[in-house]
Amino acid sequence: MSDLLEGYLGKTVERKKSRTPAKLDYIQSATGLILGLFMWGHMLLVSSILISKDFMYTITKLLEGSFIFEGGNPLLVTIAAIVIFVIFIVHAAMGLRKLPANYKQYQVMKAHANYMNHEDTKLWFIQAFTGFAMFFLGSIHLYIIMTNSDAIGPYASADRVWSNWMWPLYILLLLAVEFHGTIGLYRLCIKWGWFDGDDPKANRIKLKKIKKGLTWFFLILGFTTLVAYMKIGMDHANAGKVGERYQPSAKVIQIKIAQGRLV
Ligand code: HEM
Repeated sequence: MSDLLEGYLGKTVERKKSRTPAKLDYIQSATGLILGLFMWGHMLLVSSILISKDFMYTITKLLEGSFIFEGGNPLLVTIAAIVIFVIFIVHAAMGLRKLPANYKQYQVMKAHANYMNHEDTKLWFIQAFTGFAMFFLGSIHLYIIMTNSDAIGPYASADRVWSNWMWPLYILLLLAVEFHGTIGLYRLCIKWGWFDGDDPKANRIKLKKIKKGLTWFFLILGFTTLVAYMKIGMDHANAGKVGERYQPSAKVIQIKIAQGRLV
């Protein structure tokens, strides 16, 4: 009954304004924070390929829990991907509330932002556009990872990027996620006043610089990483070895010793 009244009047039975919008905002911020920090970790882990194939292989096996299960268990990665997917969907649902519902609303918001000529207000449009793009791009990636968690590794990932044509999707997803993630974390700091200190105005300028620096850092790291996977995938395809899995150097040496081939 109270929900029914609130639905019609926008006020609770105690004649108070509903707290629900504030709670939803809180959920949006919390899920955004988790996803933003996750993406930084994710990009650092994925970029392990820049150090060496062996290093990326070791990281993959560690994430599969190789310190608990002999040879690792990809189910752990599937579970992590499901958890991230659920957080991703909740975050997107909360974000939907903020999108204009029709062209008229869009026009009003655009005119307002242009009239204010305020940089942070304009950032909102980038958030809305990149967020919308991620609905599709992020879902495809997460679903593929969830259902192919046993195919992550120096060659398996590179084959997916190159031979399974994921690179065009990754280019778009990388752009969307890097802008959306850093702008989102910056807006969180401003919204909740985390780094306001004694001089919020001066600190906002500092935060803006940090945001710009981080966006460049993760864009450069991301694209360098993507090129590395594309190159490995291309070479693997040219050698006619698509689908073959990477064998870590230590294992190859072990096999050679066992076969008496190492002199
Ligand atoms: C637990 C969840 C996730 C796992 C296990 C995961 C795993 C991976 C892996 C292994 C790659 C390397 C390429 C490949 O194997 O296909 C990759 C690339 C990528 N992932 Fe994820 N991912 C996850 C979630 C996400 C999310 C939520 C996003 C953004 C919405 C994302 C965005 C990207 C992008 C943009 C790339 C390309 C990066 C580059 O090459 O620089 N990932 N991911």
